[in-house]
Amino acid sequence: MEKIKNKRILSGIQPTGNLHLGNYLGAIKNWVNLNNDSECLFCIVDLHAITTWPKFDDLNIASREVLAGMIASGVCPKKNTIFIQSHIPEHAELAWIINCVSRIGWLNRMTQFKDKAGKNQEKVSSGLMVYPNLMAADILLYKATHVPTGEDQKQHLELTRDIAHKFNTDVGSEIFPLPEPVIQGPATRVMSLRNGTQKMSKSDISDMTRINLIDCNDTISEKIKKAKTDSGDFPVDKMELEERPEIKNLINIYASISGKNIEQVVENFSSTGFARFKAELTEILINEISPIREVIRELMTESQELDKILDDGSKKASLIAKPVIKEVFDAIGFNKRRDL
Ligand code: AMP
Ligand code: TRP
Repeated sequence: MEKIKNKRILSGIQPTGNLHLGNYLGAIKNWVNLNNDSECLFCIVDLHAITTWPKFDDLNIASREVLAGMIASGVCPKKNTIFIQSHIPEHAELAWIINCVSRIGWLNRMTQFKDKAGKNQEKVSSGLMVYPNLMAADILLYKATHVPTGEDQKQHLELTRDIAHKFNTDVGSEIFPLPEPVIQGPATRVMSLRNGTQKMSKSDISDMTRINLIDCNDTISEKIKKAKTDSGDFPVDKMELEERPEIKNLINIYASISGKNIEQVVENFSSTGFARFKAELTEILINEISPIREVIRELMTESQELDKILDDGSKKASLIAKPVIKEVFDAIGFNKRRDL
């Protein structure tokens, strides 16, 4: 990922089930070296997770799983601030203010809400509707300048910029920077292994659609063997991929892990075909994921250590959040809070 100098980077991830290849390639792997030049905060967004309540498992365990997955993928808990959203009450406070800034018309355009609510729009929680406002609060509370995510969050990040701009204009002060989305690499949108038009997701009922970071080698091998392709031969030209979403997805995954570009991958396998390609894809996936899986397993036995990292992260995050919410309260004209 392109180096970002002297900026404040923030991203978030929901504690809803095990991390998968989309989370890893689209987000977490890109977070690993960002802290060389910038301050980074990573937020485990448990308040977001309850928007689809009551479908969650134990949130403490799920939050530790996400933390373990991040550390195992190379995100250093000493160099980065990793914390739980609900530990910092200012997220909910700022989200309420943003509910009063953001417009219903803006939220109505959010495609993720339409995807998640489906035909059931009248019955889903109102939290799901204002989910992007809470996400904007996560970002603006730390005056983040850059937000690295997968493709699916692009629209929410554009909304965050609109919200920041409107708030600044309404109060007549440039309180919030307009955060830049950072959506980079060949795997910003990893698709389901069974349907190349749907994104790989924790919420898909079929486990065969995704590779989880805790999958054992045999499972990875089985999932790639059964991954959908089509009846055509291996492509000979990159242009063909636009019409062949399942193949495009597998090639993107290969390219992202191997560091090769799409043209090189197409050229490498156009003469050998799918069997050879799938065998090599399985091999590089296993080489990438098995060490991560082993570290996750080990870390999950050290729950006190993990909780301590999250507590330390919350203390650091709170030091940034408190003065920002004070600035926001003052700009709106709320009475000064005595604890600040
Ligand atoms: P979530 O699991 O929805 O909280 O997503 C956490 C991060 O992973 C966000 O930056 C998402 O954009 C990213 N992400 C989730 N699913 C995918 C996917 N299928 N492909 C690429 N990135 C993804
Ligand atoms: N909405 C994001 C997702 O579903 C998660 C998220 C919440 C987030 N708050 C954020 C991402 C702040 C980036 C910045 O993937």
